[in-house]
Amino acid sequence: MIENDFVTAHTTVLCIIGYPIEHSMSPIMHNAAIRELNLDYIYLAFNIFPANLNLAVKGIKAFNIIGINVTIPFKQKIMKYLDEIDPIAKKIGAINAIKNDKGYLTGKNIDAEGAMKALLNAGYTVSGKNILLLGAGGAARALAYIMAEDVHKIVFVNRTEKRALKLSNQIKKYFGINAEAKKMSKNVLKDESKKADIIINTTPVGMYPNVDKSPIPAECLHEDLIVYDIVYNPLKTKLITDATQKGCKTLGGLDMLVNQGALAFEWWTNKKPDTSLMKKKIIEFLGKS
Ligand code: ATR
Repeated sequence: MIENDFVTAHTTVLCIIGYPIEHSMSPIMHNAAIRELNLDYIYLAFNIFPANLNLAVKGIKAFNIIGINVTIPFKQKIMKYLDEIDPIAKKIGAINAIKNDKGYLTGKNIDAEGAMKALLNAGYTVSGKNILLLGAGGAARALAYIMAEDVHKIVFVNRTEKRALKLSNQIKKYFGINAEAKKMSKNVLKDESKKADIIINTTPVGMYPNVDKSPIPAECLHEDLIVYDIVYNPLKTKLITDATQKGCKTLGGLDMLVNQGALAFEWWTNKKPDTSLMKKKIIEFLGKS
């Protein structure tokens, strides 16, 4: 439960929108940072039925919600409703944070920076590596664009092949690197994982409440791999558990979440939040649930 003794008629609202949204830990970490800094803000989560996205954007303006995080499935779809898109986000083709300045909405992609920082802080380098990227949505785009200048090759494997193909063609065109697109199947995952150095899951497969699912069969994993799952709820997804058992190096999604959350928080409030507190609060919350 959020204590509401600090909510007044002046309190400024921040939020996250997505569908589904129940799994989101953003309210936990942002409200912890707000309280620690003693700011007159509150951060809420809104489950937006996809057909209502345009109404949600109107609502953001009408209620003067000044900072918004955007998650699955809206990172691309929401762009057309914004007044300005930061150049990096434009290049990526997806946003995950919005600032509302008196009804003028600017979108940024801070997923990319958050994910890269998490990989580097964990001591992993992508330079010259073969990447197997699962998914071709907003998060996949962010990761692909931020890694593309350094990696040797990216293979995009997606449920919808057309989307993967579009992304791989763009990456080839912009960065001149080797990229391929394949439709997700057991055989494709088996073949591609053999050739990969790093596997990154950007799909929601394995996310709460579907915690017994993994986007890739355990038999595809081998000890030379780094396995990075951007899903953070649960903290240890089935993919991360399988990968650990196979002797892979692993990284879960919590650090990316906290990194991008902190970047958004600072953008909205001009205050630097305590990232270790944000991380601690999520771990505590997930430990209890
Ligand atoms: P966002 O833009 O917010 O990242 P998205 O565009 O819906 O959200 O991207 C989610 C990614 O996860 C997509 O690659 C999606 O595959 P499709 O392009 O086929 O939709 C993938 N995804 C979602 N649910 C999935 C599932 N159950 N199995 C496999 N892939 C899934």
